Amino acid sequence: MPAGPTKEVVRLERWGRAALLVIDNPPVNATSREVRAGLLAHLELLAEDRECAAIIVTGAGKSFVAGADIREFGRPLAEPQSPAVIRAMEAAPQPVIAAINGAALGGGLELALGCDYRMAAACAVLGLPEITLGFIPGNGGTQRVARLAGLPAAIDLVTSGRRLGAEEARQLGIVDKVVAGDVVADALSLAARGEVRKRRVRDLELPPASAEAVAAAETAARRKLTAMPWIDEAIEVVRLASTLPIDEALARERAVFERLRLSASALALRHLFFAERAAAKVEGLGAVPRPLRRVAVVGGGLMGSGITYALLTKGLPVTLVERDDAALGSAHQRIESLLRRAVASGRLDPAASTEALSRLSGTTALEAVAEADLVLEAVVEDLALKLELFAALGRLARDGAILASNTSYLDLEALARASGRPADCCGLHFFSPAHIQKLVEVAHTPSTANDVVASGLQLARRLGKTAVVARSAPGLIGNAIFADYRAAVEALVLDGALPAEVDAALEAFGFAMGPFRVFDLAGLDIAWRARQATGAAEKAPSLGDRLCEAGRFGLKTGAGWYRYPDGGRQPEPDPEVHALIERHAEEKGIERRSIPAEAITRRALAAILNRAALLVGAGIARQAGDIDVVMTSGYGFPRAKGGPVHWASRQTPAAIAASIEASCARLSAPRGDLAALLPSFT
Ligand code: COA
Repeated sequence: MPAGPTKEVVRLERWGRAALLVIDNPPVNATSREVRAGLLAHLELLAEDRECAAIIVTGAGKSFVAGADIREFGRPLAEPQSPAVIRAMEAAPQPVIAAINGAALGGGLELALGCDYRMAAACAVLGLPEITLGFIPGNGGTQRVARLAGLPAAIDLVTSGRRLGAEEARQLGIVDKVVAGDVVADALSLAARGEVRKRRVRDLELPPASAEAVAAAETAARRKLTAMPWIDEAIEVVRLASTLPIDEALARERAVFERLRLSASALALRHLFFAERAAAKVEGLGAVPRPLRRVAVVGGGLMGSGITYALLTKGLPVTLVERDDAALGSAHQRIESLLRRAVASGRLDPAASTEALSRLSGTTALEAVAEADLVLEAVVEDLALKLELFAALGRLARDGAILASNTSYLDLEALARASGRPADCCGLHFFSPAHIQKLVEVAHTPSTANDVVASGLQLARRLGKTAVVARSAPGLIGNAIFADYRAAVEALVLDGALPAEVDAALEAFGFAMGPFRVFDLAGLDIAWRARQATGAAEKAPSLGDRLCEAGRFGLKTGAGWYRYPDGGRQPEPDPEVHALIERHAEEKGIERRSIPAEAITRRALAAILNRAALLVGAGIARQAGDIDVVMTSGYGFPRAKGGPVHWASRQTPAAIAASIEASCARLSAPRGDLAALLPSFT
C-alpha cells in the first residue's frame, strides 16, 4: 500500500490559520505505519502552506499517543519511521504544538518532544516505558528528555520507565504548560494569539548537573540491573547527550534501539504485555460489573491489612471486621504503619495517606458487613471457620453483595454453598504482601454469576493489580504450580543438591529468589499443618515436615532450610540441615550425588510446565499465557524470560518432553498434555 494521508487515522482540521492534526487510531492512538504515513504526508503539505501559522498535534479519545504499536516491534519497521516524522516537525516553518490530551508514552512522548511547545491536560500521563519492554527509546527520547530535564532526571525516566503526571512533567521541564480544561481549545487560542515560537528541543543546551547527581541517578538505576541487564546500555545512551552532537547521539540511540527491540528479552516482555491484557479479559462474559462503593474486609492479619491498604489507597471505603478489640487494634496499627512507610518512601503523599485512613472504619460486629457491596474474607486458612463465616455472610450481607474468599487451597464451592447464595461468591486470591504483590487470582465456581467475575476483574484493575481468572480448584493456578515446584526442589535436595545450590541455580536462571529462601521467608509451618490435617505428614513425612518437627519454621524462628544467626535476615547454609537431608535420603534408600546447575533448572522447570499443562488441560487456567502471567507476577519467575510457557516455546520440544517425562517419573506425578500449552507439541 503506498504511503499517503490516511483520512481515518490522521485527520486535518483547519481552525483559522492553525492546522489541527488529530491522531485517531483506536484504542490508544499507537503510531502504526498508517499514523506515521498520515502525519508525514500532512506535515509535508503544511510545510508549503503559507496560510498555516501553527500546527497542533493531538490525539482523539482518551490517549494522546500511547507509543509505537507494540505488535510491530518483532518485525522490520515499515517506512516511514518515526524519526522521519519528528524531523518533519522540527523542519516545519511553523511552530508545532503538542496538545497532550491523555497518555503520551514511549513513541508518543517522543513525538511530543519533536514539537516546539508541549501543553498537557492535567489528567495526562507521560513516560518512556520502553525499558520495561526490553529496549530503549529509539526516536530521540533519551536525548531530548536530557536536554529538557537534565541528565539525572533523564537517566531516572529512561531506566525506570515510570509514568509522570502532567504537573511533575511540567516541574521537570518536559511539559511547558498544564491545562485544567480543554487542552486543544487552549492550544488553539495560544496559536491564534501567535504566542508560540519555534523552539526545537534538539537546539537546547543540556542543563547543568553535578557529577554526584548523575552518579546517584546511575546507582539508583542499576538496582534493577539483574532483572533488566539492558539498563546499562540505556544509561550509556542517555549520557551521550553530554558528549556527542545530537545527530550522532540520535544515530547511536537508534542503533541500540534496533538491536534491543529484536532481542529475546524484548520478545518475552512483549509476550507478557499482551498475555497480561488477555488474562484480565473474558470473551463473551457480557456482564456489567456490580457497583462497588464500600468493601468489608473480614480478618485484619497480614493479608487482610495489606488488602485493606490497597483498597484504601485506591479510594475505596473499607469496613474492617476483626474478632476482638485487641485484634482490631493491631490491624489498625499495621495499616497505619503501611501508610507511614509508603509516605516515607515517597510512594504516597501525606495528604493521600490521611485521606486513605479516613476511609477506614473498624468493628468487631460482623453485622457491619451489611453496609458493603463486597465482603472479602482473609481469616486464617481453616475450612470449618470459613464455612461458618460464609453461612453468616450469606445471612448478613445485603442482597447483591459479592462474597469473596482470599483462599487458594480451601474448597470454594463448599464455601459458596454454605453462604446459601453461591452465585454471589467468588475467590479473590491476593498474594502476600498484598499491598505490594501485583497478582490477584479471580476464582469462580460453576455457580458464580458472570457479573461477579466481571466485578472481581474490575476491582483488580482499579487496584492496579494484574488479574488472572481461575476455575476453583485446590491451589488455583499459582499455588498448584508452586506445590509441584516445591516437590521438585525437595526431590533435588534429596537426590544430592544442597538448598543453597538449588537457590543459586534458579537465581542464576533469573528467579528473583531461590525456592528455599522463599520457603523460609513464607514460613514452613503452613504447608506442614496442611499436611498434618490430611495425615500426609505422618504417613510420609517430607523434608519440610522434618524441619518443622525440629521447630525450624523458617526466618521467623531463625532457622528453616537455612539458619539466620543473631536474629538477622541473611541466610547461611546449616550443617544440621545437611545432616538431616542425608539421614532422610538414607531412610529412603536414595544415594545422593551432586547435580549440575543446568539439571537443577531443567528439573524445576519441568515440574512447573507439567502442572501448567494439567491446569490448562483441565480448564482451571483458561489459556497458556495465564500461566506466564501468574508465574511472572506472583512467583518471581524472570519477566525477561516471558514465563515458563514462553520460555519452553523457545526450547527444543523433544528436550522439554524428555525432562517432563523424567520429572513425572521421579515425582510420581500425573502427566499433563503439553499440546494444551504449546502448539509446537501437537
Ligand atoms: N501497541 C499496541 N497495542 C496497544 C498499545 C501499544 N503501544 N498500548 C495499548 N494497546 C492495546 C492493548 O493491548 C489493548 O488491546 P485489547 O483491547 O485488544 O486488549 C488496548 O490497547 C487497550 O489497552 P489497555 O492497557 O487495556 O487500556 P487502558 O485504558 O487500561 O490503558 C494505556 C491505556 C495507554 C495507559 C495502556 O494501554 C498502556 O500503558 N499501554 C502501553 C504503552 C507503552 O508501553 N508504550 C510504549 C510502547 S514503545
